[in-house]
Amino acid sequence: MESRQPVYVTRPFMPPLSEVTSLLEGVWERAYLTNNGPLLLELERQVSGYLGVPQTVTVLNGTIALELALEALDAHGEVITTPFTFVATSTAIRRVGCQPVFVDIDPETWNIDPDAVEAAITPQTSAILAVHVFGCPCDLVRLEAIARRHDIRLIYDAAHAFGVCAGGRSIFSWGDCSTTSFHATKLFHTVEGGACFAEDAALRSRLRQLRFFGMDVDGSQAQTAIGTNAKMTEVSAAVGLANLAHMPEILSKRRERCERYTSILSRIPDITFQKYDASEYNYSYFAVLLRDESRLKTVVERMRERQIFPRRYFWPLLSDMPVFCESRCVGSLSVAHDVSSRVLSLPLWPDLSDSVMDEVCQLVIGK
Ligand SMILES: Cc1ncc(COP(=O)(O)O)c(C=O)c1O
Repeated sequence: MESRQPVYVTRPFMPPLSEVTSLLEGVWERAYLTNNGPLLLELERQVSGYLGVPQTVTVLNGTIALELALEALDAHGEVITTPFTFVATSTAIRRVGCQPVFVDIDPETWNIDPDAVEAAITPQTSAILAVHVFGCPCDLVRLEAIARRHDIRLIYDAAHAFGVCAGGRSIFSWGDCSTTSFHATKLFHTVEGGACFAEDAALRSRLRQLRFFGMDVDGSQAQTAIGTNAKMTEVSAAVGLANLAHMPEILSKRRERCERYTSILSRIPDITFQKYDASEYNYSYFAVLLRDESRLKTVVERMRERQIFPRRYFWPLLSDMPVFCESRCVGSLSVAHDVSSRVLSLPLWPDLSDSVMDEVCQLVIGK
């Protein structure tokens, strides 16, 4: 058999180098490297246009985007969230001085269960932090109704959801604020990076202030908050602009790869998939739910022997991590435990070859 490179769960999209260097030539000529430079402003303009949102507030990464969103919305006390996510969702809650409260997820979408959210609300609750897991939209309408009814803030960790539309509009336009990640492994990236999105102009202004040391950058320049430094550089913006031009190609290739996985694996009776309801989906992950954890471990071991490294996104549950052991859990989180124990993200990127996909499928199916 021909030898091949190890296969990881994803591979960053690399735009043609010449497209990045031609943007960087301008950066070098201007010697303007950061602090709202022209490429950064252009990236924010183009991302907003691409998504159809009023404005994009870029930041250093998706984790700081979450921290800024929580701070800008004055989150305090308890924040209701999902244990089935990447650790940054809850470390952000703790780092702004709040306590995560974990509730169960829906067995089909794997997103936070609105009934469980409502049952967990107490006088200490100030916000809900929901995650569109693998780009699958949360139950947006019900979560919005719950947040309104209880007068609490609704934030979406949309790290996986770039380009997703629901209800005919960008997923980032739902809730009080959405955040995303532009990390190298994400669908759209700036190497490291992220962004906050809000429909409310005053909230966007507060976010811009918090990312620039707490200075009122839209008005008086006065020091009006205890902010941080979360500015994206011109070099990251150059990579982002080069990548954004390739989004149609990235999306159509990912879609085609996901359809190929589905057509092979859906014939297998004990494999199921996440159910999503989006007017436009982004094919950012391909996760399979296997029969049980022992089957999953067998598949992972078989793949490891062949130098294929799928990821157990998301295992363990955040609520089972020692750093969150004192956090309040509402109910037994039985659905989250079940899904987390047997879900596996398979390798996926736009140019993933048919032969590697076939090998992966064979190892997943293998008796
Ligand atoms: C759900 C979720 N939230 C937040 C983040 C953090 O994003 P970043 O790596 O850009 O800080 C990630 C990153 O993988 C994520 O998957």
